[in-house]
Amino acid sequence: MQAVRGMNDVLPDEAERCLWLEGVVAAWFARYGYRPMRTPLLEQTALFRRAIGEETDIVEKEMYTFTDALNDESLTLRPEATASTVRAAIEHSLLYEGPRRLWYQGPMYRHERPQKGRYREFYQFGAEALGLEGPDIDAELIVMCAALWKELGLAGIRLELNTIGSSEERARYRADLVRHLQAHESALDADARRRMHSNPLRVLDSKNPRVQEVVASAPDMMRYLGEASRAHFDGLQRLLAAAGVTFAVNAKLVRGLDYYNLTVFEWVSDSLGAQGTVCGGGRYDGLFAQLGGKPAPGVGFAAGVERLLALVGAAHGAAPRRLPDAYLVHQGEGTLEYAFALGEELRAAGFAVVLHAGGGSFKSQMKKADASGAQLALIVGGDELSAAAVSVKPLREARAQQPVARAGLAARLREFLKDS
Ligand code: HAM
Repeated sequence: MQAVRGMNDVLPDEAERCLWLEGVVAAWFARYGYRPMRTPLLEQTALFRRAIGEETDIVEKEMYTFTDALNDESLTLRPEATASTVRAAIEHSLLYEGPRRLWYQGPMYRHERPQKGRYREFYQFGAEALGLEGPDIDAELIVMCAALWKELGLAGIRLELNTIGSSEERARYRADLVRHLQAHESALDADARRRMHSNPLRVLDSKNPRVQEVVASAPDMMRYLGEASRAHFDGLQRLLAAAGVTFAVNAKLVRGLDYYNLTVFEWVSDSLGAQGTVCGGGRYDGLFAQLGGKPAPGVGFAAGVERLLALVGAAHGAAPRRLPDAYLVHQGEGTLEYAFALGEELRAAGFAVVLHAGGGSFKSQMKKADASGAQLALIVGGDELSAAAVSVKPLREARAQQPVARAGLAARLREFLKDS
């Protein structure tokens, strides 16, 4: 049997890196006052259709949707978590007492063509700031990303920024854009021709050079912005400049989800190949109402954990890993029970202890102790058992083995570990 295509087993080396990143991310969110939130992996299909949009790639062809045979309900594995977070905020009246800053992390599911950096099960962490409408909060989310890249030692992630206006402004723009695309229809590829009617803004980010030529002469969204939208975008740019965050305005940046308005942004790396976007987000002021809630503004982002870890790996190599402090070797009648009790005692005192399992000669146990990466081997044989003691052998330096009484062992081990 093999894993489902595009879904990865995360083996210990990588899982340790994931855990380490999760720790960094949780502490970073806490520093900005974002509180954790978890939503189910499964949601009603209608949630994503309504939130992400019928005419997006995700809803058209990437969702894992099935009918729950027990109650004939259409369910979907979440392709992203913004829709679920807003659904939960409405369902639990989370904005009743005022705005909320929330964060989440976990697996998402999209039936895309798998390649490096693009999987069918992938992990995101993300933030959603709910109930705040000013550009200050857009700037906060972006500035905090910049701080995380810095903390992770990642240089060379650039920020692309755009505004797609209000829905009315976008509707006017869309009509003119479609007219422009229709006038140049012969230069468009099949994909752009299809999208021209279903989701014309997505034609703007086509990778096809011939389509790009048509796009280059398309109307400019900035000219369709009203005063409020322009002020929002100006305010955001001012705050980013003041915070020392550099960015490029990319008028072709539209994002692949329909819930956005005003601000959209992406953090992109050039060292990841075709899947270079490590983080994307934007504002979604219409989503609460669209999902049946009281209107409320929202803005957020999500980052791809696999892509970020690929960058962290390139920058740092292996993630820090806690090696065992001690490996417990035991041989002879009654020593296993003694070693068991000793192991528990030391773990309760805060040591990381691996108890040898699987039998074998003393020599083979010592080999395993060495391979475990532990600092010390703790040896229990018949002599140690009868003397209520343990022999401590430093494994990473040329020091003799020493007998140590079980009483006071923890304190003595701390000395051994400090010296090594
Ligand atoms: P998204 O751009 O679809 O946005 O995904 C965010 C990030 O998830 C991407 O930049 C990428 O790093 C990662 N990602 C997406 N698809 C895959 C995949 N198939 N394999 C590996 N990584 C992937 C959202 O999901 C929005 N919910 C972000 C947001 C939050 N907007 C507002 N709030």
